Amino acid sequence: MRAIIVDNNFAAWRAAALGAISECLPPEAIEWRVAESSDAFQGQLACGFGVEMGVTGKAATAGEADTTTGTVRPTPAVHVSKELAALLKDAASFRDPQRWAFLYKVLWRWHNGDRSVASPADADGARLYRMAKSVRRAQHDMIAYVRFRQQSQADAVPEYIAWYEPAHDVLPWAAEHFAERMGRSSWLIATPHGAAFWDGQHLHLDERRALPADHACDTPDAAEALWLAYYRSTFNPARLNETALEQHMPVRFWKGLPEGRLIPDMISQARSGARRLAQASSVGALNGKLVAVEAEAAQPARELPTSLDACRRCDLWRNATQAVGGFGPQNARIMLIGEQPGDQEDLSGEPFVGPAGQLLDVAITRAGLKRAELYLTNAVKHFKWEPRGKRRLHKTPGQREVEACSYWLEEELRRVRPDVIVTLGATALHALLGKQASLRDYLDEPFDVVDGRAVATYHPSFALRQQNDASRDQILGEISAALERARELARAIAAKSTEAGAPAKRRPQK
Ligand code: URA
Repeated sequence: MRAIIVDNNFAAWRAAALGAISECLPPEAIEWRVAESSDAFQGQLACGFGVEMGVTGKAATAGEADTTTGTVRPTPAVHVSKELAALLKDAASFRDPQRWAFLYKVLWRWHNGDRSVASPADADGARLYRMAKSVRRAQHDMIAYVRFRQQSQADAVPEYIAWYEPAHDVLPWAAEHFAERMGRSSWLIATPHGAAFWDGQHLHLDERRALPADHACDTPDAAEALWLAYYRSTFNPARLNETALEQHMPVRFWKGLPEGRLIPDMISQARSGARRLAQASSVGALNGKLVAVEAEAAQPARELPTSLDACRRCDLWRNATQAVGGFGPQNARIMLIGEQPGDQEDLSGEPFVGPAGQLLDVAITRAGLKRAELYLTNAVKHFKWEPRGKRRLHKTPGQREVEACSYWLEEELRRVRPDVIVTLGATALHALLGKQASLRDYLDEPFDVVDGRAVATYHPSFALRQQNDASRDQILGEISAALERARELARAIAAKSTEAGAPAKRRPQK
């Protein structure tokens, strides 16, 4: 058994491993030991972390130092792939006393033609991948979680100090990273296994200068105070997700991070009720004057549906073919309001085209009116129905649906501005009045509504439902009488306007 003593770094191991291969020493014939005064870092930097064992087709540099004998001998040509070279280099930072023996075993197998050793399907290959992965993770963590603090004296060197406990020997790698990014500012990163010092121009790594934990963390600087205030202010206890938080910032890092020290307290506050108050206390403490706002005005502005077809103010749209809007001249003097589209209106998209519409046509003609001069609409614009065999049976709309749809009726009233409105049936009367009312109470006399007069009568389908012709004729007669009254009223209003010199019919507002 040969003992090979190396410094605890990749460059030293690499040189020794190439020497052992040149002597054809199998792994089981070597005992790898780390030198007492081993320098884990200098060798890594000297190696530049870019040195490979010898990329495929290219021999490793000749003349490596033999740390066992101190002599210089030519190194053999050991060809490794780029991938394996990178894996070996990363795995070399894995903190494990057996790492050098293991890496030599991998190199030996590869050198002797066993390429499976570089595959994750191989037991050694899998171990190598795991080690390299773990080291890369530690490198990432160190970049993410090192926090520098500025020294309080203006001319202090180093100006910034950080304490960090890396999971593997990744300090040299991270130190190079920070040296590239922190310009000429001097800094020191202390770890339990050594320190890295950047004087603004050169990087010094010293594993013997291991500092005690917390050396650098006692004196928060002004930037840190600002950072902590910011961190605390962005924390929303109502949205705390402890699992996600711990995944993003593992608990083992908390003690090394200034903000990590805030987290347990913030979590406990969130658990004990702050969730409910969320940021109310901090928002409430802000200076400013109170502005009284009506609850309705405080609601976010919601876009109104731009077209009847897009209306979702109630659920009737779900089972209807389409919305059926009003139909007729935009400056009609008389507006007729029915209840809701029926089966045929739902299919055609026009009001009063089915049986009730045909009966209404008879009443209109009897009243001396023409359908073409009237504006016909409904209180509810979607067909409400229930299935009965193959038929869709009309279902009376509920109060909620009438109220939801009043938005559209009011829009039509504003747009057409009829002189006289005729409500057909109880639902239409309810929609016009904006309240439940007994149709019987309104049947006989015209009544005032905002900006006009109104006449209430039966719905033509009420006539259709009558059991005999006489009753049907009677109801039909009452509807046409109501329409006649509406015609007379409209004529009177028009005459009055003409006398007063006003235009016969107010033009609809554009
Ligand atoms: N009944 C109504 O109330 N309106 C129509 O459009 C059709 C039938």
